[in-house]
Amino acid sequence: MAQLQTKTWVNRYPDVFRTVQLFQARYSSTACPRILSFGCSSGEELQSIRNYFPTAAIFGCDVNRAALAEAAKVDGCTVFLSTPEAIKAFAPFDVIFAMSVLCRFSLSQTAKSLKSIFSFYEFEDHLGALNDALSDDGLLCIQNANYLFSQSSLYPSYAPVRCPLIGTNGFVDKWTADDIRISSIRKFDHGREHKIEFQPDFLTDDDFRDVVFRKNITAVTELSEPPAPLGGKVISTTGKGADLSVAAAERRIAHRHTSELLQDDTGSMWIGSTVSKTTLSGEIVSLPTWWTHIHPEPAGQLTPAQEQWVVKPTTGSKYWAKRLLPRWRL
Ligand SMILES: C[S@@+](CC[C@H](N)C(=O)[O-])C[C@H]1O[C@@H](n2cnc3c(N)ncnc32)[C@H](O)[C@@H]1O
Repeated sequence: MAQLQTKTWVNRYPDVFRTVQLFQARYSSTACPRILSFGCSSGEELQSIRNYFPTAAIFGCDVNRAALAEAAKVDGCTVFLSTPEAIKAFAPFDVIFAMSVLCRFSLSQTAKSLKSIFSFYEFEDHLGALNDALSDDGLLCIQNANYLFSQSSLYPSYAPVRCPLIGTNGFVDKWTADDIRISSIRKFDHGREHKIEFQPDFLTDDDFRDVVFRKNITAVTELSEPPAPLGGKVISTTGKGADLSVAAAERRIAHRHTSELLQDDTGSMWIGSTVSKTTLSGEIVSLPTWWTHIHPEPAGQLTPAQEQWVVKPTTGSKYWAKRLLPRWRL
């Protein structure tokens, strides 16, 4: 059995959603893609997909009937019980998200063998059904899988779509097809890191990074970063994630996001996001910075004349915070 836990939230994978959105804008000929959330749980992923792809036909499937009953409340989406036959009936899809489904976390963390819990053959079976349902040149997105897609028999028909926004394909421990543990997951305050336990010859850094795969293409698609601002003043820098020097020294695969708020010489504001990560050889590498032109207010830059009118969120009420935050984050 694949993942049994149904935990999910709105906008859980913003960098993956943005990458697919960019790919669709640059490479896809359809303005109305058919998108499947395989393992949609209670439907938050359907809501997220709707926000990123307003014109898409959106489908969600799951094996958990209680979760599906919730998912069915999301407006304008088609929700169904997941079986290979049902997936086939709604195919073809231009994009399939298989996010935090092709795993058995957290059981896989302590298991000595994964074979009887979630076998590589089961992983391959799911991939086979998804591959059959994916259109030519469609995108398969795999996050938080216990096995490497690069070891799948389908992998030769796919090539990764890479974007500097994505630095990791998740936090669940990795296993080889023949049931040997590659990594163990270590939990820290900032999140989880992969401690490498076994490094087979075929393992690459991309096995910890690639999420988006394009069908029937041989060359990697690189979504290059947009132009950077020409000069300016850095107003603030914030970092989130691992201490990479410690992670590299202790042979862990980890990543860190740095955000820079910058005001260019014309007064315009920009946010620069940089993903840095450790590698299997113990180095630290930074992906190119992704610059986004923004208005000052969303970055928290308010003039005193504006500040006096702003309503701040009420800290005392978790009820309202829970209800409002997911929508605000989008
Ligand atoms: C942790 S949730 C992931 C929800 C969402 N995709 C996300 O990433 O936030 C995993 C979901 O996968 C579902 N699942 C497990 N096996 C499945 C299968 N064969 N077909 C479809 N969904 C499955 C589970 O019922 C559960 O709702």
